Amino acid sequence: MNNKRDLVLYIAASLDGYIATEDDSLDWLFNVEGEGDNGISEFYETVDTVLMGKKTYDWIVKHESGEFPYKNKECYVFTRSTMEDTEDVKFTNKNVVGLTNELKSQEGSNIWLVGGGELLQSFLKEKLVDEIILTVAPTIIGKGIPLFNKGDYQLDLILKGTRTFNQFVELHYEVKK
Ligand SMILES: NC(=O)c1ccc[n+]([C@@H]2O[C@H](COP(=O)([O-])OP(=O)(O)OC[C@H]3O[C@@H](n4cnc5c(N)ncnc54)[C@H](OP(=O)(O)O)[C@@H]3O)[C@@H](O)[C@H]2O)c1
Repeated sequence: MNNKRDLVLYIAASLDGYIATEDDSLDWLFNVEGEGDNGISEFYETVDTVLMGKKTYDWIVKHESGEFPYKNKECYVFTRSTMEDTEDVKFTNKNVVGLTNELKSQEGSNIWLVGGGELLQSFLKEKLVDEIILTVAPTIIGKGIPLFNKGDYQLDLILKGTRTFNQFVELHYEVKK
């Protein structure tokens, strides 16, 4: 197995740990004064595969105008429903351990876990996440969709670095295995 192919959670959250409001709005995030593209394109170059939950996929399809944003990557969308693949994504109900091991057994670059919180919880419980890059917005939204759902898991992290993009702080952690 090629252990160099890391599974990386790269995500943005409010200071109080939410990734969207209860009605799926990200306005609080997009209204923040960042710097350049806040490091996204640099990160994007390091991955060739993208994983996301069905609700995150639905958000992207509804809100991103024009082309699917991850067209040039292999993109898997987790859902428990049976759905026809599109030219942009493969829908999967595979066990997260099974799919991660399958991907890691293949040659490739890093794997981006986009979110959301519900899908992330399955990966955290199984300790499948290798790195976390969290961009913190200077916003407290009080309630919303949590980044980290309650559950029986504990992960110990090693701080690899921090960067700021104007009002954003990026925290880069490696997960202790
Ligand atoms: N701030 C950010 O950077 C960021 C990043 C990503 C997402 N978001 C936001 O987060 C929100 C969505 O997050 P969320 O936590 O509500 O939902 P989510 O994790 O994106 O999607 C949940 C859905 O994914 C499927 N799913 C989850 N775990 C699964 C598993 N282990 N196996 C198979 N299918 C599984 C289920 O789909 P079915 O119901 O179809 O079975 C479930 O309903 C959206 O508003 C999105 O915009 C924000």
